[in-house]
Amino acid sequence: MSMHFPPGFHFGVATSAYQIEGAADEDGRGPSMWDTFCSVPGAVTHGDTGAIACDHYHRTDEDMDLAAGLGLTAYRFSVGWPRIVPDGTGSVNQKGLDYYRRLVDGLRARGVEPMATLYHWDLPQPLQDAGGWVNRDTVAHFCDYVQLVLDSLGDVVPVWVTMNEPFCSGMIGHLQARHAPGVADLHSALAASHHLLLAHGLAMGMIRDRAPQARAGITHLLSDIHAASDSGADQAAARRLDGYENRWFLDAVLRGSYPADMLDWYQRQVPLDFIRDGDMEIMAAPADFMGVNYYETKRVAGDPDEPFHQARVIPAAHYLDAAELTANGIDARPAGLGRILRRVHEVTPLPLYITENGAAYHDYVDPEGGVDDVERVAYLTAHFGETLAAIRAGVDVRGYFVWSLLDNFEWADGYSRRFGLVWVDFGTQARIPKASARWYAQLITDQPAQLITDQPAQLFADQPAQRP
Ligand code: FCB
Repeated sequence: MSMHFPPGFHFGVATSAYQIEGAADEDGRGPSMWDTFCSVPGAVTHGDTGAIACDHYHRTDEDMDLAAGLGLTAYRFSVGWPRIVPDGTGSVNQKGLDYYRRLVDGLRARGVEPMATLYHWDLPQPLQDAGGWVNRDTVAHFCDYVQLVLDSLGDVVPVWVTMNEPFCSGMIGHLQARHAPGVADLHSALAASHHLLLAHGLAMGMIRDRAPQARAGITHLLSDIHAASDSGADQAAARRLDGYENRWFLDAVLRGSYPADMLDWYQRQVPLDFIRDGDMEIMAAPADFMGVNYYETKRVAGDPDEPFHQARVIPAAHYLDAAELTANGIDARPAGLGRILRRVHEVTPLPLYITENGAAYHDYVDPEGGVDDVERVAYLTAHFGETLAAIRAGVDVRGYFVWSLLDNFEWADGYSRRFGLVWVDFGTQARIPKASARWYAQLITDQPAQLITDQPAQLFADQPAQRP
């Protein structure tokens, strides 16, 4: 294998609290809006919930050993807000803070660099009861929570991600209704997205104040969007969908404005009365990096019957062979990652982390007890290859976090989608590293010696922030 990445490149995995921890009622954790959403009939495949998930809360040491055993140099996790402030506001749960301190200390003791995400979708339910992200007050409550987390972990976490994919929380949760809180309303979706971006900007300022040595940024889901044909209707629809999924969020944090065409489009449908003077400047707080989550290439056609964007994504099964589809049935061809990296590089000088990339396949345990996920090995080989090609073309990519370490609770798909490098038997909680885990460990081992340092804490410190 000859994929050699630049010295200091981070080889990581990404996880999130609600998807792996379980222990939903333990040690003072409060309910999250995902606990509630899971109890809605039909909301989650098979009626699955995150109540037990990978039982990671009780198996933290075992899972950190797994991560360290792969030779990972970095590990992205999220802090579960309901563990820290069970009621969303008010009393603080010290056991929650202690739990994440133990996780971070454990990673560092194993030579694995922690990257902490402050919000990965698990809003405390009492805040959702008060309107959730549609209610601007949630931004202030988020800041109170961030302050607690920074006071507790600010000295030991070198890299912070403020928000994971505000598009998904904002739009999938409030327009498509596929994620918690399960709302389908354009005004709510735009207001929630706005408040998530505002919360990001305020958190950036708090990190600067309280953990000035740390590096910080936001993570966006970015899809590679194309028109299904040369027709004017398809081209316009693709541009709108790109505006909705990508540009709305990129422009807000990079330019401090929403894209004019989308402002115009939305203003004709709903009042954008949640935007207040000064908000956009806060969102555009200078960052040290941008996190890119890439999963999907989309072909988009015009559709006058689609209510919000008059655009429709063509199912990948209509134009790809079955063998090219992931278990999600999406177009996950690797060239899309290269295009997204080059595109982001064109609009910002910030270093990039691929904070998530991975795929679900129909994995199974074979009679010998192994999981030979040849599709995932091919997927990762191709996506790491795209990343290396982008780096060689001048894109400043600093690391790659495979989604995910473990098979886990895949939101509305429950346990029906396996994304892990490690198989989880959800009956026994046994872990079986898949062929892809061995592939990844080998990729890391094969890097030139200067990449692997005895003091991974140095890895981040070595890279001065490039602030615009
Ligand atoms: C991303 C989410 C992550 C996981 C992957 C498959 O959009 O950030 O939690 O569900 O998709």
